[in-house]
Amino acid sequence: MTLDTPSLSPGLEGVPIAESSVSLVEGEAGRLTYRGYSIEDLTQPGVTFEEVVALLYESELPTGTHVDEIRRHLHDQRVLTPDQLAVARQIGAMTHPMFALQAATALLAPSDNDFERKVPTVQERGLSLVAKVGHLVGIIAQARAGRPYDGPWVGESHAHMMLRMITGRQPSREHERAMNALLILQADHSAGNASTFTARVVTSSKAEPEAVCAAAIGALSGPAHGGANEASLRLFQQIGDPKRAEEQIQRMLDDKFKIPGFGHRVYHVKDPRSKVIQQLAKEVIVPGSREADLYDIALTVEKVATERLGARGLYPNVDLFSGCVFAALGIPTDFFTPIFAASRTLGWMVHMKEQWESGNRIFRPTQIYTGEEHRDFMPIDRRS
Ligand SMILES: CC(C)(COP(=O)(O)OP(=O)(O)OC[C@H]1O[C@@H](n2cnc3c(N)ncnc32)[C@H](O)[C@@H]1OP(=O)(O)O)[C@@H](O)C(=O)NCCC(=O)NCCS
Repeated sequence: MTLDTPSLSPGLEGVPIAESSVSLVEGEAGRLTYRGYSIEDLTQPGVTFEEVVALLYESELPTGTHVDEIRRHLHDQRVLTPDQLAVARQIGAMTHPMFALQAATALLAPSDNDFERKVPTVQERGLSLVAKVGHLVGIIAQARAGRPYDGPWVGESHAHMMLRMITGRQPSREHERAMNALLILQADHSAGNASTFTARVVTSSKAEPEAVCAAAIGALSGPAHGGANEASLRLFQQIGDPKRAEEQIQRMLDDKFKIPGFGHRVYHVKDPRSKVIQQLAKEVIVPGSREADLYDIALTVEKVATERLGARGLYPNVDLFSGCVFAALGIPTDFFTPIFAASRTLGWMVHMKEQWESGNRIFRPTQIYTGEEHRDFMPIDRRS
């Protein structure tokens, strides 16, 4: 290798793309912290998503009074124009909710395209998107279920608003607590994951926050990233019977099928988020229910896949058990990833702010060219 031919790192494995103080993923220890606080502490009963909004933006845990202010601020920021609401309902019924969310988010953008002039508003615009994207998920769910629009209530938490709008039911305290924990757990995962990296790449072109967020939603939609929560539950539904799970998973692994919810680029032990989610599963899954069967299947997947792949550093990730908890909360399967997106909007927007504060140089990596060099052009009538 010479200095002129840099070596390729497929998937940019091990290549730092930013300096960041938002969250830390410690792959060998199986630890995730936000601004130094462990996700186990941040998902204790009583902690709300609003607290984590303050923590990620302001680097400190907020007082109770400040959390109330944030809750009111998010409520005020949820307001949409009649056109935005009508379009979100219309597209919500047309396509997968993740794509509807991506389109509806892009349509929140202003009529000008000159964000550099507006950089001092980066936090305000980010908070507005955190408020609105959660609201949009609720609107899309109501439209898909054929229910009339019933928007945010004064004083309700982000978790309560989303769960109520998505399920069409008033959530219990236990369900609201689980929803808070799920929103917190998925709010950030360092700068290097595919969707946050996307958010940073789009930020680097000085794009508006809505363009940043819509692009990141697209990156999150894929089954190798956020879409794995939906894919894993669909797999468990397809397996159907917990008694047949072991034999089917063995066969899938023989066929080199990639089990959704398993494996991770950075964690080579069990993902700490999956342990928190298993605690939530104990709290919300009713014994004897359909979700209890699906959870049994997930446990069999963990056992068989760990026996076969654990020695290679492959273990359950956040998506192996999250679908079972979402299902137990009454959330339709195709809304698992949109909820993830609403939660991760917080991380994307905090990374956008951090990147502007650290210079925001445009991403312009290089390539290793493998094509033809300098060929003679032949006019069309002389080609045989
Ligand atoms: C997360 C993921 C994309 C990481 O990808 P990566 O770091 O590029 O790792 P690779 O896909 O190259 O996998 C490395 C090896 O482990 C195997 N492997 C990885 N994940 C696997 C899985 N879920 N099931 C079975 N085998 C798996 C691969 O087949 C590959 O084996 P090989 O070396 O024999 O070809 C990958 O583990 C995956 O696709 N998991 C399922 C999707 C998922 O749950 N995504 C959510 C992540 S939070």
